[in-house]
Amino acid sequence: MDPRSEVLLRQAQRFRGPVLLAGLPADDLLGHLPDALGWSWQAGDQASLEQRFPERCHFGIRAPALECRVAVLFLPKSRELTDYLLTALAARVGPAGEVFLVGEKRAGIERAGKQLAAFGAPRKLDSARHCQLWEAQVERAPKTPDPQAWAERFSLDLVDGALQVVSLPGVFSHGRLDKGSALLLQHLDGLPRGPLLDFGCGAGVLGAWLKRHYPDSPVHLLDVDAFAVESSRLTLAANGLDAEVIAADSLQAVPGELAAIVSNPPFHQGVHTDYQATEAMLRDARRHLLAKGELRMVANAFLKYPPLIEEHLGACRTLAATDGFRVYRASRR
Ligand SMILES: C[S@@+](CC[C@H](N)C(=O)[O-])C[C@H]1O[C@@H](n2cnc3c(N)ncnc32)[C@H](O)[C@@H]1O
Repeated sequence: MDPRSEVLLRQAQRFRGPVLLAGLPADDLLGHLPDALGWSWQAGDQASLEQRFPERCHFGIRAPALECRVAVLFLPKSRELTDYLLTALAARVGPAGEVFLVGEKRAGIERAGKQLAAFGAPRKLDSARHCQLWEAQVERAPKTPDPQAWAERFSLDLVDGALQVVSLPGVFSHGRLDKGSALLLQHLDGLPRGPLLDFGCGAGVLGAWLKRHYPDSPVHLLDVDAFAVESSRLTLAANGLDAEVIAADSLQAVPGELAAIVSNPPFHQGVHTDYQATEAMLRDARRHLLAKGELRMVANAFLKYPPLIEEHLGACRTLAATDGFRVYRASRR
């Protein structure tokens, strides 16, 4: 059991009726709270919760339509996303409803507890397992937030013209172009013709660029995070581009075989460092690439990906090494 769920269950009487659990971990909490509904924006967590608790977890960037007076937010990493989600939950429970916030101390729960003050007086209810539980009774109920009104919109001046980017709260590199992605963009020429994938697409910068440069190639963008998926859709639309955006946590969700996988892959998940998603992508890449299909990816130089790339794909060439980033290229043997 996730320690945050354990802290909630120390106060289980507060969560007996219909309660909305936003950003819940993929553990057994729903089994302990039979009237609760989950709300997840992480496709991997959602898939595993759906398997164990069918139809008890809603997936998306908007709160589900559950009639409830109590909602809990599992603290996400981003402050903007916390603001958006607290607003959505305070709107859902309405005046005199209760919003709880639970999170690890190292994730900044002490500071985040104070973000509840926008809706009512925050109280710290419990502290255990390196986590805290906060609560506020809603005195000032907001309107249901429109995610698009929370988006950052900015224009990237790329050598081949401006690219409009739309980035929702919590999405990687919110409001600016990541240095690694900027470097990768300079090394995406000469990709093989055929279906292309932007793995871990975030706000869709790489995928949109690919579609603009390879208009005849079908382009797929994939991300585990529903806020990233929606941002990518908005970015494509803002540039008049058409590509398929997929909410999933692995290559298995991509239809057909690929001519190239392009990625600035994840190595952080929430507050914990996690290389698993990228390692799994590298392991699976071979099965999803056409013969001579290519991988082009950027990573921090300290991440030792070349041996893994060589193990699973073929000879790995370093196309660029700048500012602590490396761009790697490999073809399927
Ligand atoms: C370093 S960011 C890159 C974002 C974007 N491509 C860019 O260049 O700005 C990595 C992205 O991978 C996503 N991600 C994390 N785990 C994933 C997984 N298992 N499957 C797919 N995407 C994942 C994250 O949500 C994040 O958007």
